[in-house]
Amino acid sequence: MSNQSQTEIQRQYLEADAELVRDLSVSYGRPLGCCITTFGCQMNAHDSEKLSGMLAQMGFQEVAEDQADLIIYNTCTVRDNADQRVYGRLGVLNGLRHKRPGLKIALCGCMMQESHVIEKLKKSYSFVNLIFGTHNLAHFPELVYRMYHEKGPVIEILDKDSGSAEELPRIRHFSFKSGVNIMYGCNNFCTYCIVPYVRGRERSREKEDILKEIRDLASDGVKEIMLLGQNVNSYGKNLENAVSFAQLLKESAQVPGIERVRFMTSHPKDLSDELIRVIAEEPKICRHIHLPVQSGSTEIMRIMNRRYTRESYLDLVDRIRAAIPDISLTTDIIVGFPGETEEDFAQTLSLIEACGFDSVFTFEYSKRTGTPAAVMEDQVSEEVVKARFKRLLDTVKKTGERAVGRFEGQVVEVLVEGKNREEGLLTGRLSQNLLVHFPGEESLIGSLIKVRLDECKGFYYLGSRA
Ligand code: SAH
Ligand code: SF4
Ligand code: F3S
Repeated sequence: MSNQSQTEIQRQYLEADAELVRDLSVSYGRPLGCCITTFGCQMNAHDSEKLSGMLAQMGFQEVAEDQADLIIYNTCTVRDNADQRVYGRLGVLNGLRHKRPGLKIALCGCMMQESHVIEKLKKSYSFVNLIFGTHNLAHFPELVYRMYHEKGPVIEILDKDSGSAEELPRIRHFSFKSGVNIMYGCNNFCTYCIVPYVRGRERSREKEDILKEIRDLASDGVKEIMLLGQNVNSYGKNLENAVSFAQLLKESAQVPGIERVRFMTSHPKDLSDELIRVIAEEPKICRHIHLPVQSGSTEIMRIMNRRYTRESYLDLVDRIRAAIPDISLTTDIIVGFPGETEEDFAQTLSLIEACGFDSVFTFEYSKRTGTPAAVMEDQVSEEVVKARFKRLLDTVKKTGERAVGRFEGQVVEVLVEGKNREEGLLTGRLSQNLLVHFPGEESLIGSLIKVRLDECKGFYYLGSRA
């Protein structure tokens, strides 16, 4: 079926859903409430915004979970603890279900793309009303309709996209900043990672479609955009008219009204000199690159199928810092990948010392069913992983504090993002992705202002308006 006729069908379902929600509201004597909880990365957060947009069009109001008539968990499965959190919360919902007649429970996202999860849900969580995966967001209106009309659980899992979700309405969580998906899926197959299996092969969107979305966001008042993909540096390589990520980034920064452009995530193997040059030359591109290294040992990188070496990574960091001296670098580290020796781990610590990261996201290796690493011999014992993890945190804390403090005393431009928990304080974000808390009026939220970074408090600053 063509994309267009599919979109038309979904529009009709949306209308039917709206009618159904209206009828239910009349019989309950109150509006219907929904609540979406997002687990996982920016991809999922972006998908949740699409779901929110469609639910709003159906007439649902967003409410707290204990008030909701429809509860949706948009799940992540990158590590086992993400799965466990979902199962734990489902247990709680089973109780809530008895107190809220008419409550509907829906699950979607990456975890649903795994057949062992679906089996477990069918067997032990059969009260869930709707289950769908990462490839059928565009069918959501139809799925909601079926959920309200069919008896048993509605389950739709596809292994490829069922139509474009880009045309769907969307509710953004911030008025002044927004994520923009530039590509889906991943082709890298790092041996520990489940993402290529649950998000499918890499697909880039057409550059003109992306730029149109950015222009629309700008005219809607958005000042900062974040270009999203699992490996943005390989953007555009498979398009009919091949285009580089650097080119897309440059043109995004030139859209009138856009003041800041960020991007996530960069794979070190594909980060080009052209990209470094574009960042250096274009002040609207934020001074931050998240550059996951995963390990400091070339041997472990090889078994992880990362396709770079310790030396090439260190060289890349040097080239970036030489061209963009005020850049902030952050990374991800996995501890306890199969076969990791004490020597490999020591190399990870020394690489962190050498790179001067502002922050490091640290993960214990988690076995994902179906990935090559899950069946590798010499898995590292839990005891060793825990001990290494603790040493890693000590190093990260020490090097992070040293790196973050480098701007103390300077006046910088920040985007004011919101109120701080502490009364009277606002929180602003630097181009480098660091945060500063400072006294100010709520009316400043969403604007770019100058702030003096008075004092570094480890991972953030306290400041004052300059
Ligand atoms: N596409 C991004 C990463 C997406 S997943 C990239 O390649 O850089 C985010 C992070 O989760 C990864 O960088 C990795 O550090 C971590 N991760 C992924 N799979 C994992 C696993 N099985 N166990 C532990 N950490 C994992
Ligand atoms: Fe996973 Fe590697 Fe793809 Fe990142 S690049 S999503 S770690 S397979
Ligand atoms: Fe998790 Fe899926 Fe993102 S597995 S990290 S939500 S792509």
